[in-house]
Amino acid sequence: MRSSRRLAALPEYLTARTNRLVAERRAAGGDVITLGVGDPDLPPSPAARQALAELVQRDDVAGYPTNRGLPELRQAVARFYRARFGVELDPEREIIPLLGAKEGLAHLALAQLDAGDAALVADPGYPVYVGGPTLAGAEPVGLPLRREHGFLPDLEAVSPADRERANLLVLGYPNNPTGRVVDVDFHEELAAWGLRHGVPICHDNAYSEITFDGLVAPSFLQAPGAREAGIEILSLSKAFSLPGWRVAFAVGNAELVGTLLRLKTHVDAGMFHALQRAAITLLDSDPAERRELAAVYERRRDLVCDRLAAAGVDVPRPGGAMYVWMPVPGGDDAAFAERLLLGADVVVSPGRAYGDAGRGYARLALTVSDDRLREAMERIVRML
Ligand SMILES: Cc1ncc(COP(=O)(O)O)c(C=O)c1O
Repeated sequence: MRSSRRLAALPEYLTARTNRLVAERRAAGGDVITLGVGDPDLPPSPAARQALAELVQRDDVAGYPTNRGLPELRQAVARFYRARFGVELDPEREIIPLLGAKEGLAHLALAQLDAGDAALVADPGYPVYVGGPTLAGAEPVGLPLRREHGFLPDLEAVSPADRERANLLVLGYPNNPTGRVVDVDFHEELAAWGLRHGVPICHDNAYSEITFDGLVAPSFLQAPGAREAGIEILSLSKAFSLPGWRVAFAVGNAELVGTLLRLKTHVDAGMFHALQRAAITLLDSDPAERRELAAVYERRRDLVCDRLAAAGVDVPRPGGAMYVWMPVPGGDDAAFAERLLLGADVVVSPGRAYGDAGRGYARLALTVSDDRLREAMERIVRML
């Protein structure tokens, strides 16, 4: 049976391939340390788990939810944005729940793009930035994030032809994979550029709560013009260490939020009510817990960067997210990742998995215990 040509155009999803390789090595007796996937190893808070456990016992949570989500949940998101970012949101028109940021990003592309359209996407970037537009029959056009440009896109370098075809721009800071964190000025320029050229912006703030060295990541919506220019996606996966719960939100421009909601009414049936109610507890919880979580990643960031620097690797020190973006000796990231897996039983992601501009780098996820990370670093350094 043949799949759609749109699906056939996509390579096997990165984690699917990595998982298979790891299983093969483990079956062969290898003590594999995987720094490949950004799957938080730390548990969600006991309070969150307790809340969900109690909620599933209720009689009123098992029915079909709605795509718009409970009003109480949207109000909790509005409270979170007010407290955390100083941003006022209208819970009726400017907030919807998503079944994870990944779902929202893929469906946003489907909601916005037709054949012949382009999506301007961060390169390197989270693979769905490319997968979504491709599945929509549109063309993803990379915005290279290069080290010499501080891992920021050069929007003025986008060709007039691409700009005119574009009906979506997707990027996010704190950035996966580069670890770059931006300030509100960056978002202001981004919003202005989007408005000037009529390109709706989607800012992916999946790592908003994970920053280091005292940095605090802003919301895109703090920037003047941002609410007119586009939306932001907020995910609870990393901030609360519960990626399997699949809780995220699209917030901001009411028209774009409404378009995404309309698309979603055709493809999913909303978020489990118990999760929606548990999410309220999380959104209202003490921010100190989130800072403790970020401190763990910061310690691991230091561990990895210090070890690489001591071994002579000129590694950029990430200001946020949960990865180290390591320049690869010799420059061939695919060969390096394979050598590490076969020769040292360490999984890292080759940079090209995140786009052409990722070539020459490997992404190391800080999502294993400090001890395992230390062991992984010794093995990596031996292979340099
Ligand atoms: C940049 C970025 N956006 C979104 C996601 C997905 O988040 P969620 O778990 O909410 O789907 C990830 C997960 O790794 C990510 O790195």
